[in-house]
Amino acid sequence: MVSPIISDAIRTMPKAELHLHIEGTLEPELAYELAERNKVELPFAGLEDLRQRYHFTNLQSFLDLYYELMNVLRTADDFKDLVLAYLSKAHEQGVVRSEIFFDPQVHVENGIDIDTVLDGLLAGTLLGRERYGISCGLIPCIVRDMPVQSAEEIVDALAPRASELLGLGLDSAEVGYPPELFGDVFARAREIGLHLVAHAGEEGPAEYVSQAVHDLKVERVDHGIRSVEDAELLNTIQERGIALTCCPLSNLKLKVVNDLDELPLQRLIDSGVSITVNSDDPAYFGGYIADNYDALAELGFTLPQLAQLAENSLHAAFVDDDERDGMLKAFSLWAQTHKDLLV
Ligand code: ADE
Ligand code: ZN
Repeated sequence: MVSPIISDAIRTMPKAELHLHIEGTLEPELAYELAERNKVELPFAGLEDLRQRYHFTNLQSFLDLYYELMNVLRTADDFKDLVLAYLSKAHEQGVVRSEIFFDPQVHVENGIDIDTVLDGLLAGTLLGRERYGISCGLIPCIVRDMPVQSAEEIVDALAPRASELLGLGLDSAEVGYPPELFGDVFARAREIGLHLVAHAGEEGPAEYVSQAVHDLKVERVDHGIRSVEDAELLNTIQERGIALTCCPLSNLKLKVVNDLDELPLQRLIDSGVSITVNSDDPAYFGGYIADNYDALAELGFTLPQLAQLAENSLHAAFVDDDERDGMLKAFSLWAQTHKDLLV
């Protein structure tokens, strides 16, 4: 168990969440509330039955449930409420900046207008900023196991509202869907001013991370832990200042590793790569962002080491210089008030 003093320090430490799927924050209770509100029939015997299903054997077994539950999200208010529920929790866990993923192709396939999705998510982030002081950006992700043509169409549909978005990502079932398939889609996203990130090296090989870096020209890699298998790639990642957005509890729940101490985080850090800590799909994986930091503390990471990871997240966020300076000042203030714990 992490001591209450360390756990409290972790929760007040200013941090950015850079790998968070908003649909993955849908708690079972809210899923049922929205299903009732929208008269959507869920294929479970009830809340308890749903709760029993949160055991996964791999990424796909999780995605099956995640996509099923997404069907309860129908109106702009649903998306707004989902964002606000997440931000209230993130606020309690010291998040000052959140760069939020969502899967627009799936919502459109579910019959929801893309503007409804965007309007709801944006309304949630604006209210969240007012209520909790958290600054947010939105990153639509390409669902890589849908056809490339669908990816092209969704970028076309998003392009008129590109100024309201932060970036473009790539997610969903990894193995068999290499990043190189999406070179043109990502080139277009770059042209319309979006930052670029991609999930790679979660279940897939280091080669996929290499493709994300070289073919998609991503600025951050989501997960990326299998980069550790390729020394040359690690050098490139380090030289280009590409941060990895790691998600320890996700990797454990999806059986990427059998035990947290199998994660190569220290080896990545030792090779000079910037690592950040994130929650991925916290409603499914048993913890929000500070719970992920707690898990690393239990593994033996010290508070100074965890503080370095939080500071990394502030440097890796897609914000302008003024905003970064403000976040780093808040971080310095926190470090000053916790200096006895940081020696
Ligand atoms: N979509 C939501 N969570 C994901 C994950 N961990 N990997 C890939 N796609 C996802
Ligand atoms: Zn993810």
